[in-house]
Amino acid sequence: MRLTIADFVKTARSGELLPLVTCYDHSSALIVERAGLHWILVGDSLGQVMLGHADTIPVTLDDMISHSASVARGAPSALIIADLPFLTYATPEQAVASARRMLQEGGAQAVKLEGGAPVIDAVRRLVELGVPVMGHLGFTPQSANQIGVRVQGRSVEAAAQLIRDAEALAEAGAFAIVLELVPAGLATVITERLSIPTIGIGAGAGCSGQVQVWHDLLGFSADPPFRHAGRFAEIGSAIEQGLKAYTAAVREGRFPTDANAASIDSDIVAAALTEADRA
Ligand code: KIV
Repeated sequence: MRLTIADFVKTARSGELLPLVTCYDHSSALIVERAGLHWILVGDSLGQVMLGHADTIPVTLDDMISHSASVARGAPSALIIADLPFLTYATPEQAVASARRMLQEGGAQAVKLEGGAPVIDAVRRLVELGVPVMGHLGFTPQSANQIGVRVQGRSVEAAAQLIRDAEALAEAGAFAIVLELVPAGLATVITERLSIPTIGIGAGAGCSGQVQVWHDLLGFSADPPFRHAGRFAEIGSAIEQGLKAYTAAVREGRFPTDANAASIDSDIVAAALTEADRA
């Protein structure tokens, strides 16, 4: 049976720290289930790591729905939270229409959207209508053109605004908030003030949980790791080694072997040749 928002909230309230991971496809979702991870974020970071875009801006609702649905088929018991992409929740009405598709077609149980004050009405409306919403504050990648890619909330004014935004999201009914690239001390204070869990990425250890991007976490990309990324495997080099070994085995005639194909009696082949030549 699939986990619910109530399970997520209950786990956070018990004081257990929450590990979240991004996931974008069916095969990876099967592994997430086998690894016993319960909480999946289908992030619009798929724009960069799956689709090869420079940022998340070009990601469409159709992209998100397709990836979310493949994850939902591969992870039948995990709670799936999916990003609403750039400018698909600019008004409460648009947010409702986008979330409807994400839950009905994308198989997600909750949506995540970025920002503070400008999205509060959309969050409130979604929650009123039964759509669980995760907020996202600090560095919000969909606004990178405006705010740049850097740590947020360093000044008194910016930190106070982050605190106010977090409180407003909680008051509007968000069930959790991602804090991305927020100074650790500020993320801890926000976590302590809120009655809902915070999920950090580059926000220190004082959050209620952590989220990491699949490719960063598992060494899938060749890019140098971000400072905030934990590296817990090197699947990129494992895949590269595997592909090199396969290439060499084919070139040297070591693959395939007799065990990799069905056998046939040589009498049948001889008879088939005679039959074919007769036609
Ligand atoms: O899109 C994403 O992967 C995210 C995480 C970085 C939080 O929003």
